[in-house]
Amino acid sequence: MTARIIDGKKIAQEVRAEWKVRADALKAQGITPGLAVIIVGDDPASKVYVANKVKACAELGLYSEHIALPADISEAALLAKIAEINANPKIHGLLVQLPVPKHIDSSKVIEAISPEKDVDGFHPINVGALSTGNTGFVPCTPYGSMILLQKSGVSIEGKHAVVIGRSNIVGKPMAMMLLQANATVTICTSKTVDLAKYTRDADILVVAIGKAKMVTGNMIKPGAAVIDVGMNRDEHGKLCGDVDFESAKEVAGWITPVPGGVGPMTITMLVANTVQAAERATVK
Ligand code: GUN
Repeated sequence: MTARIIDGKKIAQEVRAEWKVRADALKAQGITPGLAVIIVGDDPASKVYVANKVKACAELGLYSEHIALPADISEAALLAKIAEINANPKIHGLLVQLPVPKHIDSSKVIEAISPEKDVDGFHPINVGALSTGNTGFVPCTPYGSMILLQKSGVSIEGKHAVVIGRSNIVGKPMAMMLLQANATVTICTSKTVDLAKYTRDADILVVAIGKAKMVTGNMIKPGAAVIDVGMNRDEHGKLCGDVDFESAKEVAGWITPVPGGVGPMTITMLVANTVQAAERATVK
């Protein structure tokens, strides 16, 4: 079997077009959705991610502010900056790119962001809303991964979904969203004994562990949908996922490539959450 390739770039374009209609409707009422992105320090990978986020906003005609702060900024000064943006009516969504330097407590940073502007969906109020099934903001990568499954026609209800990785950014919220969609969910970690026992039983396999090509074709159930959240460099310096694409595509029913799978969806859902934040601020 050769898997159907889930084209994240194409699906991201479709989803962006849907959200552009909603952004334009707000603009027609005189409200331009606005996103502020704070970056602390000069980690090169974070700089690229942040530049891409700001660019995606511009492409949809959103307002954005890119706030670069020095690595040695005090925690108090960063929290004061967040408070200032929380109070700025031009900004509907605010995120602080993670990781922040070690002298800053990332939990304090996340909790300082107003839950109504928390377009990353990392604030405990939004995390709680996701687990109770209420309406909050959901983290962009799992949100985008769910849309990839839905738009590819993968049925979720009643299926066994296995998530490898338990991060707050991907693994845990992904598991929660799959549960919400009535999947039977197993969460595995880097410590799981006999990982293949679980992955071989997965109808849906989401891999977010950060280890290049860790999941190979012989660990995959024939016909399964495989979502690869990894972004690594292989031994030749080439971008690759957590799944060994070449062997996996011979077994899986659907698979996301890296690059061009989950990545474009993450930024798209950030734009979506920003437009939604602006909609919610408007109906108040
Ligand atoms: N660092 C890696 N991924 C993310 C993300 O989705 N949001 C933020 N704020 N930081 C990140």
